[in-house]
Amino acid sequence: MALAGGHRSNTHHTPQLTRETKMSRFTGKTAVVTGGTHGMGLAIVKQLLDEGAEVVLTGRNEKNIEGARTELVSDRAHVVRSDAASMADVRALADIAQEKLGRVDYLFVNHGLAEVQTLDEVTEESWDRHFAINTKGAFFTVQSLSPLLNDGGAIVFTTVANDLVFPGLSAYAGSKDAVRAFAHVLAAEYLPRRIRVNAVAPGYIKTPTMGVPGMTDQERADFEKQGGLSTPLKRMGTAEEVAAAALFLAADATFTTNVEFPVDGGFAQGLPGAEH
Ligand SMILES: NC(=O)c1ccc[n+]([C@@H]2O[C@H](COP(=O)([O-])OP(=O)(O)OC[C@H]3O[C@@H](n4cnc5c(N)ncnc54)[C@H](OP(=O)(O)O)[C@@H]3O)[C@@H](O)[C@H]2O)c1
Repeated sequence: MALAGGHRSNTHHTPQLTRETKMSRFTGKTAVVTGGTHGMGLAIVKQLLDEGAEVVLTGRNEKNIEGARTELVSDRAHVVRSDAASMADVRALADIAQEKLGRVDYLFVNHGLAEVQTLDEVTEESWDRHFAINTKGAFFTVQSLSPLLNDGGAIVFTTVANDLVFPGLSAYAGSKDAVRAFAHVLAAEYLPRRIRVNAVAPGYIKTPTMGVPGMTDQERADFEKQGGLSTPLKRMGTAEEVAAAALFLAADATFTTNVEFPVDGGFAQGLPGAEH
């Protein structure tokens, strides 16, 4: 694991009035965002920084880490190379978070990987990869950071819209359903510490990878087309829309725990126009 802190001064170009208004919600707060170098995680990080938080964010791919480092021009952003599938990295992340942030108010367990493989194409290796990153990595990230979490804080997982049934995503769906399952139990276990445990459940969201980094350009175009067609609101969501929901669950939904909040354009809500 290597630390790659973005230690430049903050030169965001947000208008001053808007920025001061928005700064209040997360001013003086700290957050860890796994899978924060790209897509929805990066959108979560940007909104947190814009609103005054100090953030440790993780990713694995060096190019994306470098991209985040270049884009996040803030001395409140600490970009960490940390593989969620590596227990050593997951343990070391807690040490880095303690060093950089001291305590943690909000933990966003957002990292994830999907590979499109039908039943006959799934291998033991690809099955293990999904569960090592999406499931085991998510669980032990929480366990590892738990001692640093402030009582009264919040954990927000990124799962997947309940009915997002897409042929070729069986291993992925299983790995994310397991997160949904253990998140419920963690919500109960954290009650004494008043730490709320919730999840955002995205439908089709337009991110650089659509959560499936290995897709060809044609496969991604087909995936995006299907996303627009099969969503009742007739478009895909944006990373910023998911980030807004995640930040709402973390900071504003102070009387809400054990909820999976769909951000899916109505996809999994039984509305007309959802083509599953
Ligand atoms: N996009 C969608 O339509 C959609 C729908 C439902 C759910 N989701 C879920 O939403 C989350 C974000 O998706 P996205 O579309 O924003 O994906 P993305 O752009 O590919 O971002 C995924 C993030 O997770 C990180 N990551 C992947 N494997 C990792 C590992 N082993 N260790 C540490 N970090 C790792 C990636 O870092 P690297 O770049 O270094 O790999 C990246 O920062 C994922 O959990 C995904 O499964 C996505």
